Amino acid sequence: MRFQSSALTLAIASTLFCPCLAQNPQPTVYTDPTTGICFDVWDIPGDSKTGGMAFGMALPSTALKTDATEFIGYLNCKERQGWCGIALGGSMTDSLLFVAYADGDVVRTSLRFTHKYAAPGVYTGNATVAEIAHEVTETGISFIFHCQDCLHWSQDGGSGRASTGSSMLDLGYAQSVQDPGNPSCAREAPLMLHDAQGTWTAMLDESATSDSYDQWRALANPTVPDNC
Ligand code: HEM
Repeated sequence: MRFQSSALTLAIASTLFCPCLAQNPQPTVYTDPTTGICFDVWDIPGDSKTGGMAFGMALPSTALKTDATEFIGYLNCKERQGWCGIALGGSMTDSLLFVAYADGDVVRTSLRFTHKYAAPGVYTGNATVAEIAHEVTETGISFIFHCQDCLHWSQDGGSGRASTGSSMLDLGYAQSVQDPGNPSCAREAPLMLHDAQGTWTAMLDESATSDSYDQWRALANPTVPDNC
């Protein structure tokens, strides 16, 4: 797969030094060919309603010893229509929610939060998403992004964190085949109930961490501006 990025030189250098080791079935290792970023990736199969998705994480070199508060993410929604997202605390409620979808040729994203099993509102904490690369095809979207302050969250008395130091994360996924309403305004775009959702325990290994993390993170640019 090909992403839009001009960082070819860094890509080649990073790939050469990427510690992509042989893995257990979960996670698998994916090295993005354009940026050279190396991810631990978990694959979520589709079903009769949805195409499935994949989520990956790249982390700072110390993340398996000291909890990281940021990561570089890889999200692949294997369906062009609708949206897919990750619950970074493993539950829909009281956990930072990351949503992505295609709007024409661009990928738009939104950070959400909710106390209830109802349409989540905008996350008002200080997490930020910056795009590293994206791809939109007939069959889905891929998005590589830097997520600052996304591994700890706090809103309206609900707070939590994902502990990378434990080498095990509780994550959740959700996928909807219905496009968000008002798609050019991602932070407020109304979302319909997902057609598939679930949770899994994501084991982290050393392939998720890299000394190149800071160089990779420097590839990030602001996401496509909202048009609200
Ligand atoms: C209109 C928007 C949404 C509604 C009405 C909604 C509603 C619900 C409901 C009722 C459940 C329980 C399902 C069951 O137990 O069978 C659920 C589960 C779940 N939802 Fe949502 N949801 C919405 C958006 C989202 C978003 C944006 C995400 C993440 C990006 C998300 C992630 C999850 C996850 C991971 C679960 C399973 C884990 C859990 O039960 O906490 N949801 N949702």
